[in-house]
Amino acid sequence: MIESVLITSGPTIEPIDPVRFLSNHSSGKTGFFIAEEAKKRGIKKIIFITGPSSFIPGNVDVIKVKTALEMREQVLNYYKNIDLVIMAAAVSDYTSAKIYPEKIKKRKDTLTLKLIKNPDILSELGERKNKQILVGFAAETENIFENGQTKFEKKNLDLLVLNEISESNRAFDVDENQVYFLSGKGIKANKRMDKSEIAELLWDEIFNIRKK
Ligand code: CTP
Repeated sequence: MIESVLITSGPTIEPIDPVRFLSNHSSGKTGFFIAEEAKKRGIKKIIFITGPSSFIPGNVDVIKVKTALEMREQVLNYYKNIDLVIMAAAVSDYTSAKIYPEKIKKRKDTLTLKLIKNPDILSELGERKNKQILVGFAAETENIFENGQTKFEKKNLDLLVLNEISESNRAFDVDENQVYFLSGKGIKANKRMDKSEIAELLWDEIFNIRKK
């Protein structure tokens, strides 16, 4: 029985100086609809950990974070007692090695920023997995099934929502997406559809893999 879910959503933002940051185009719509659907399915406890986004569901526990490190801390805080984790957030893979205390001035023609890798939250969850069901997302531009399968296994997932980023399938900051579900049962292709419909199908799929 799935009584509690932790959903991460939106982008993370990684500060560079007091006015600038690194981030991505994630709107937080997918995570929002997944949380809305969780309510409809009667999930009792819904924890929604989100980076900066205007898509915030009502009547759930909302925790707002900015950076990947803050998201990691909150996720790990709740992980132990959760039945299901859906990592829909577009976590920044890299962060600035240094946060400049003053605004960087445009003195030179070129500027080199050093970036360092953020911890991979989902991989850490996979390593510490106990009874939790883990759902991850992947955006790929090439060899999508091969890369998806590798990610699915490496991160110890139960389900991977895979989408191809291409000219014909825009996924960021739009209402629709075309995704594949990759699980131990194989790959399921879905049509391009509204993100609210993807959330419905995703919940069906989660209950489905539970029955295996
Ligand atoms: N993710 C995470 N922590 C990170 C980066 C990603 O938890 N630091 C999660 C995302 O929430 C998503 C999944 O991992 O559910 C896949 O992220 P993605 O960026 O597509 O893949 P990576 O594993 O980071 O690999 P790469 O960027 O090299 O394709």
